[in-house]
Amino acid sequence: MDYEAYFAERLDALKREGNYRVFADLERKVGAFPRAANHADGEVRDITIWCSNDYLGMGMHPEVRGAMCDAINASGAGAGGTRNISGTTHYHVLLEDELASWHGKEAALTFTSGYVANLTTLMTLGAQIPDVVLFSDELNHNSMIEGIRHSRAAKKIWKHNDVEHLAKLLAEYPKDHPKVVIFESVYSMDGDIAPLDEIVSCAEEYGAMTFLDEVHAVGMYGTRGSGVAERDGVAHRIDIIQGTMGKAIGVVGGYIAGSARMVDFVRSFGAGFIFTTSLPPAVAAGARASVRWLKEHDEVRVRHQERAATAKRRLLERGIPVMPSVSHIVPVLVGDATLCKQASDLLLTRHAIYVQPINYPTVPKGTERLRITPTPLHDDAAMDHLVEALCDVWQTLGIQRVQQAAE
Ligand SMILES: Cc1ncc(COP(=O)(O)O)c(C=O)c1O
Repeated sequence: MDYEAYFAERLDALKREGNYRVFADLERKVGAFPRAANHADGEVRDITIWCSNDYLGMGMHPEVRGAMCDAINASGAGAGGTRNISGTTHYHVLLEDELASWHGKEAALTFTSGYVANLTTLMTLGAQIPDVVLFSDELNHNSMIEGIRHSRAAKKIWKHNDVEHLAKLLAEYPKDHPKVVIFESVYSMDGDIAPLDEIVSCAEEYGAMTFLDEVHAVGMYGTRGSGVAERDGVAHRIDIIQGTMGKAIGVVGGYIAGSARMVDFVRSFGAGFIFTTSLPPAVAAGARASVRWLKEHDEVRVRHQERAATAKRRLLERGIPVMPSVSHIVPVLVGDATLCKQASDLLLTRHAIYVQPINYPTVPKGTERLRITPTPLHDDAAMDHLVEALCDVWQTLGIQRVQQAAE
């Protein structure tokens, strides 16, 4: 086989469809968030990032940076091994205690990413619990889909956020048959939020465990910031809460929180936890400092929601098609892969605004979009600039508006 020709052919097909991904080469700057330097074609330009998942700018926070620098200076760069082989540092222990108490759970376990936390936990539960059936929301993230798939357990896919459909599928099994209901709180491409109370009640009725991915909610919802389960008063009824330290917490890594036995079970049987070097101590220290700060600063969450609501309102006023979203995510519909890439390119080259295109397979074909994530640090001037820039791009490329704006 001509491997190189095969790779080239597949990549060319992606380019023809407009789905080839080009990374922006960015240099974030402490003190300047959400501005950054963009390296392109041998030049460096100052731009504003409008699509970061460092949702609250915590990756720049002095207390987080300080904790990380202190840990490096005290304990060195890497952990030095897997958790079993000298890779459990005191920083890991403190972080897991902090995460458990944040979610009101007995214990927590950290992983090298949120992706690995989902993959490992679901693979472990699915492979180890005899005859278990995994019930997965149809819009669950790839990390959960892969965990379910690799576990080889029986699976049932329920229609997105459709509790009646979930109940129908659960009812096919006796109440004492092992089951896990797997879902997210904030779905990050559309910005909708699952009806947690109803889903948990349904799972309880049919004797199922619950696994909730709060990756796009931790740090941002609930008065102590531990997520939508806290906001909705249902955290104590959810068996496994999974989160990331790479988005609103601003560092990297993933975790689960739940009962001490469940955590011990995944710790003891989860290959993706056992056979890999643990997070650097500095990462654990930074994530812990971030969580401690976020717990005490609800005002940052209030400001975050206000910024997102303002962006949605102002864009809609100008006819820019903001998709319905009840969260901090501001998805703007373009509806075509090539056009979406062009819109993103034009925003960057003409307006020094970076919002990457979201195309298939991340979202269904025909719903290609720009996914804007206002942070508490995007001020009014940045907002004015974004609105005018999007209007110009929409005008230049002739993209559909929701109503013809008077311009
Ligand atoms: C819903 C969801 N779960 C899990 C992950 C993986 O988290 P991490 O980026 O920490 O690997 C993502 C990443 O974007 C996600 O969107």
